[in-house]
Amino acid sequence: MKPIKVGLLGLGTVGTGVVRIVEGHQEDLSSQVGSPIVIEKVLVNDIHKERSISIPEHKLTEHAEDIINNPDIDIVIEVMGGLEPTKQYIMDALERGKHVVTANKDLMALHGRDIMAKAKANHCDVLYEASVAGGIPIIRTLMESFSSDRIKKIMGIVNGTTNFILTKMSKEGAGYEEVLREAQQLGYAEADPTSDVEGLDAARKMAILATLGFHADVALEDVEVRGISQIKKEDIMFAKRLGYEMKLLGIAERQDDQISVVVQPTMVSNAHPLASVNGVFNAVYVYGEAVGETMFYGPGAGEMPTATSVVADLTAVIKNMKLGVNGLRALTPYKEKKLKTDDQISYKNFILLHVEDKAGVLAQITQVFAEYDVSLDSVVQQPNSHNPDAEIIIITHQASQANMKKVFKHFENLDVIKSIKSAYRVEG
Ligand SMILES: NC(=O)c1ccc[n+]([C@@H]2O[C@H](COP(=O)([O-])OP(=O)(O)OC[C@H]3O[C@@H](n4cnc5c(N)ncnc54)[C@H](OP(=O)(O)O)[C@@H]3O)[C@@H](O)[C@H]2O)c1
Repeated sequence: MKPIKVGLLGLGTVGTGVVRIVEGHQEDLSSQVGSPIVIEKVLVNDIHKERSISIPEHKLTEHAEDIINNPDIDIVIEVMGGLEPTKQYIMDALERGKHVVTANKDLMALHGRDIMAKAKANHCDVLYEASVAGGIPIIRTLMESFSSDRIKKIMGIVNGTTNFILTKMSKEGAGYEEVLREAQQLGYAEADPTSDVEGLDAARKMAILATLGFHADVALEDVEVRGISQIKKEDIMFAKRLGYEMKLLGIAERQDDQISVVVQPTMVSNAHPLASVNGVFNAVYVYGEAVGETMFYGPGAGEMPTATSVVADLTAVIKNMKLGVNGLRALTPYKEKKLKTDDQISYKNFILLHVEDKAGVLAQITQVFAEYDVSLDSVVQQPNSHNPDAEIIIITHQASQANMKKVFKHFENLDVIKSIKSAYRVEG
């Protein structure tokens, strides 16, 4: 049987896992796809670098052309990361009729549209299961398993670094900076953690999931983003006391054809399955009009989990090759993108206010909520033992984002309120 030859761009964490799985599971894989799979060439920065797997030297190259222009290679797996020259390599490979599997969420979130257009023009597949939530098969689930349903809501813990940090803060009562340093020492956070902690990485993944779930072309700029770097340990303690866990949630919602996508720290009720997703694990909760609630849980990163998704895509491409349907099964967004405005987005809110401790304060505050049509679920006032002021914890019912903005604006001019200490969305 003629082998299927694969070019690998990158032999780092994920690339190494891909080689291990293709070699280690060769018998199963070739039985499933009907041909042996051979990793023909591997692009790296430095062919002399020491590797944790042994790979014949003649297979390594520092020149992308050895893969892109190699007529024997049918499929290119991109696991080198970054935007350039990566995008160019992928576009060139597609131009030459090679199918592409990638784990690169940055590339797919920012240039997915160009890449898919190029793939279509050249009758090629581009699959990217590993780009969101590593080992969790959420992309194929949205594209295929839920094709009969109408997805209304996708909520994801799609960044392991921030979930590790928030879990540690919650379980150990530790502060943000301290836990971030620990995450960096353990290799869970990068030296420059900005993309993770400021929610950008999660936003890219949510743009990909929302595009697939809602069939509209959701771009990164459409995602409203707030990260975790401002979360104080007292916020987490208040959340716990009230029966919530603080999570960095990506939330994509659709009502009729209006959609909204946000990434923000959210207090998730302990009754919701997302509240118990801890450490570096990821989970994606999907609510479909017909199916109801579903949730997908697993490792969001790491050598072998991520490589599992990459190699599953590889087998899907090869099966398509055998059927002669490459490039025909891609989903192109077919709905016009209509983003919700602030008055169409509503959710419950947690608000912690620092106020003067005197008679009538509560009445003034509740009056402001009433003025903007925000009804309250609970209000708890507690004296502050260190000074003569008090703290008020408020949980609202569902309120529009537009009205909540008016409430906060009004609070700025209310003398009895010394500061809005914290405000978070509440889910579950
Ligand atoms: N790590 C994860 O758990 C994970 C999970 C999901 C998705 N992903 C995505 O998978 C991709 C790869 O991640 P990774 O963690 O495996 O990265 P990595 O460990 O940094 O490996 C990158 C590999 O690409 C090679 N490379 C990078 N730039 C190159 C260039 N310009 N020319 C030639 N070779 C180049 C490097 O060569 P050298 O080895 O010679 O330096 C290295 O082998 C990224 O898009 C990432 O977002 C990763």
